[in-house]
Amino acid sequence: MLCPCSGTRKSKILALYQQGVTDLESISLRTGACSGCGGCEADMLAFLAECAEAAAEAPISGAGRA
Ligand code: FES
Repeated sequence: MLCPCSGTRKSKILALYQQGVTDLESISLRTGACSGCGGCEADMLAFLAECAEAAAEAPISGAGRA
């Protein structure tokens, strides 16, 4: 659980990220994460950085042409 206040899990954040919702404010608006105590903000930003790294290492398949 990434944000216990809102019940937001990493899987939800990842799903949103993959849909193009990549900034904390937009994710917060959609999930309620970071809108309670705020204690998850550092973890949320770290996880978004992980998502960005993963996306950079494994670009969407089909993006390039052979
Ligand atoms: S843990 Fe996310 S707002 Fe409290």
